[in-house]
Amino acid sequence: MNEEIKNKVSELRAKINQASYEYYVLESPTITDFEFDKLYRELIDLETKYPELITPDSPTQRVGGKADSKFDTVSHRLPMLSLGNAFNFPELQAFDKRVKKSIETCTYTTELKMDGLAVSLRYENGLLTLGLTRGDGTQGENITQNLRTIRTIPLKLIPPFPDIIEVRGEIVMNESELTRVNRDREEEGLPAFANTRNAASGSIRQLDPAVTASRKLDLYAYHIGEVSERFAETQSETLEKLTALGFKVVPMHKHAETIDEAWEQIQMIEKEKARFPFGTDGAVIKVEEIKHHETLGATSHEPRWAIAFKFPPDEKETKVTNIALSVGRTGAITPVAEFEPVFVEGSTISRASLHNEDEVKRLDIRIGDTVIVRKAGSVIPEIVRVVKEKRLGDEQEFIMPEKCPVCGSDTIREEDSAYLKCTNFDCPAQVKERILFFLARGNADIDGLGDVIVESLVSAEILKDVSDLFSLTKEDLFTVERMGDVLAEKILRNIENAKNISLTKLISGLGIPLVGKVASKLLSQNFGSMDSIMNATKEELEKIDGIGPKMADSIIYFFKNPRNMNLISKLKCFGLGVPEEKKEVSTDSFFSGKKVVLTGTLNSMTRNEAKEKLESLGAIVVSSVSKKTDYVIFGADPGTKLTKAEELGIETLDEQSLIRNLVETQSPYA
Ligand code: IVH
Repeated sequence: MNEEIKNKVSELRAKINQASYEYYVLESPTITDFEFDKLYRELIDLETKYPELITPDSPTQRVGGKADSKFDTVSHRLPMLSLGNAFNFPELQAFDKRVKKSIETCTYTTELKMDGLAVSLRYENGLLTLGLTRGDGTQGENITQNLRTIRTIPLKLIPPFPDIIEVRGEIVMNESELTRVNRDREEEGLPAFANTRNAASGSIRQLDPAVTASRKLDLYAYHIGEVSERFAETQSETLEKLTALGFKVVPMHKHAETIDEAWEQIQMIEKEKARFPFGTDGAVIKVEEIKHHETLGATSHEPRWAIAFKFPPDEKETKVTNIALSVGRTGAITPVAEFEPVFVEGSTISRASLHNEDEVKRLDIRIGDTVIVRKAGSVIPEIVRVVKEKRLGDEQEFIMPEKCPVCGSDTIREEDSAYLKCTNFDCPAQVKERILFFLARGNADIDGLGDVIVESLVSAEILKDVSDLFSLTKEDLFTVERMGDVLAEKILRNIENAKNISLTKLISGLGIPLVGKVASKLLSQNFGSMDSIMNATKEELEKIDGIGPKMADSIIYFFKNPRNMNLISKLKCFGLGVPEEKKEVSTDSFFSGKKVVLTGTLNSMTRNEAKEKLESLGAIVVSSVSKKTDYVIFGADPGTKLTKAEELGIETLDEQSLIRNLVETQSPYA
């Protein structure tokens, strides 16, 4: 093995690690994304060429293989303890007294208490070897593969480091990421995560590390478990040294001389907590001097040298003005409490979902009731309880309707379901929601048609299902109040473009219950056409890794519905869902069956356009030159691919020859 290549690989890894550390941990990048991508690409190319050089700590190796059906259980070398709680200042003073019974004098550190999931990371000779959940404190689950996907967890420590060190910290998810994940889950028919803690925990306990990698998670370190040498004299020094090893550490940590000073700091943390993008649930007070930790020891559950101060939840009182009903795209009828606006944890809220009939009964909520509201996990508005003492007697009881509030059709509550459903497939609310879902980003991605416009077109019966979008005319759009010429044209243009959406987006836009974006991609990759998916048997569907029996049933049920079949065939008339292979590929052109490589910049078209044209003529466009390549087509500044082609004696074509051959053998379908 050439030493030069080995050195190049380690140099690239060092540069990438440094850039990632600056970007993710320090949050102050020194190179552009473009430069980063270039380094990463270079490393991938070298590792592909010389796989023997791949090491587990390479930045390219964050996403590994799937776990089996469950994670292994592993014992913690030192137990992962919980913390005792204090709810007011006298309880903190009592803690201070207890501490000072065993040791004469000490100082404290206060820190933010993050509401996530505690993990322990074991490093041997600077390399991450094991990552465990807290579990029951003595045994945790081996989630190393998933933890490796988190960018703020170093795979390799920055020297100097102890031979063995266990770093403990909290995995958290930001609220914006929770919103994104929940939107995706809703589309997949999965229940939303109630808060960032549940979402972080659900994301880290995925059997497929690729799913964990697709969620933005962060680690903040705050404690040391087993360590092969004395690490630090104080908690402040522990955090400093953890920073030097490459970790993000717990925010808002500050040294306090006395418990009174610690109390002032805690009040400051409470004031500032809203500015953290993840859930927080208090502050932690720790004895600063590590030597005292040893003297004070721990009970079976908690250290005697630390305590958590829990902030009271931000709860407000307000009055319910109405209980509205909303009908979703699957017909589910959701009661929503509307109340007088109140300011809770950084924003004004005026509505909270009551989810279903059972929840309305459990809360015994009535219109006119005084209620306590809060944000679950600091994000989602929620009714905590009804203040029954404040009832005047004129509150109106709420009963779920027998008929759909929008179309008046019968409602049913299926066995095993908490939801009451409208039974009318043509209910305008369902039609509107199905269309809005189809239009949404990530599905057909059609801009310009918002809630108000769709509602107006649905109530005018111009839009009766998704396929009607594709026959919309300007006149149709002008039935919408205040529709202008420019907007109408833009909408029609966007709809026209959407006729080319991929099969994946089309499937995902149909809103088949339980089938989200990932499953849509699996279906389109494995079956290639809407017809094949529609005709697939349960067994064929379940054979796909990632599609389980429930999802398979849901897909079959969806395509059994004649209304859905009708929709698919109408969409086909507009060219949507037509199988790729039917997008006619020529078999007798100059390029048919030929392996072609494109390199350099073309003048008359982009490389992608050239690729599409070549493929329509039957060419197989590949990215690297080998003995099997038939033609290398080059534009300006072609680089090494052209040289390699010449070395291997492969025929090369310049742009002029490409165009000549394209024109001469133009496929009638291109
Ligand atoms: S120290 C032995 N520090 O709170 C010391 N824990 O309620 C162990 N937590 O299990 C923990 N922020 O998951 C510590 N700054 C912080 C923390 C923190 C959040 C979590 C941790 C622990 C739980 C106890």
